[in-house]
Amino acid sequence: MQKLVVLSGAGVSAESGMKTYRDSNGLWENYNVQDVASIDGWYRNPKMVLEFYNMLRKKLQAAQPNEAHSIIAELEKYYDVVVVTQNIDNLHERGGSTNVIHLHGELTKVRPVDDDACRHVKDIGYSDVNLGDCDSRGKQLRPHVVWFGEPVPMIQKAAVEVSTADILLIIGTSMNVYPAAGLVGYAKRGTQIYLIDPQPIRLNYEQFYQIQEKATSGMRRLREILLKEVKDPMQQ
Ligand code: OAD
Repeated sequence: MQKLVVLSGAGVSAESGMKTYRDSNGLWENYNVQDVASIDGWYRNPKMVLEFYNMLRKKLQAAQPNEAHSIIAELEKYYDVVVVTQNIDNLHERGGSTNVIHLHGELTKVRPVDDDACRHVKDIGYSDVNLGDCDSRGKQLRPHVVWFGEPVPMIQKAAVEVSTADILLIIGTSMNVYPAAGLVGYAKRGTQIYLIDPQPIRLNYEQFYQIQEKATSGMRRLREILLKEVKDPMQQ
């Protein structure tokens, strides 16, 4: 089986009702990123940060995976699929994907503030986390997400996956945030790169094919292309 690595961002979940970050009316137009998504913001006002993620968790609870998530999952029948997502939602998993790497953490998980090594990550589902919610040692719980100013522990694992991909799909990301945006640089020579986004995306890589559509219709088209290749590999 060929290996298909999917690099996804907020756009893949947009049709599920989850806001993207940088589009007009996106999250960063309505919230100050340095207040709610940076380690300094957490030190300044943890209550505001907790409330922001409580709000997102409630939205996620009400959201459903869309057809783009389910087609990505369906492709596991034909490809060895690894999803590397910048999203903190769980819609890839709920859409059926079985191998998902979360670069920026997970909304439904928390850990104690002093647990930089992420050894005591706990699943809380869709519950709120408030100031005063602590582990058994009295340490405040924080969202298990990566904030600006923090390292991205999963980046090396993700880079290894990209470097062994036969096909790379980039979907619903503005490719603005590093180190995630640099992952494409790990693709080996000759890797076929597909990009699905309604906006034109610039990529520092000569061989890529953009399907300039929303995630669901773009994935329907890509499924056709990929399944043709699986059935008739000489046609490429
Ligand atoms: P962005 O908001 O930067 O980019 C979203 C992309 O999705 C844009 O290129 C849009 O054109 C595209 N898009 C919008 N609607 C779409 C649809 N229906 N189908 C497909 N694509 C669509 O989001 P990300 O690139 O994911 O990190 O942002 C990366 C990181 O920045 C996030 O993980 C988050 C944020 O700050 C942290 O908070 C650490």
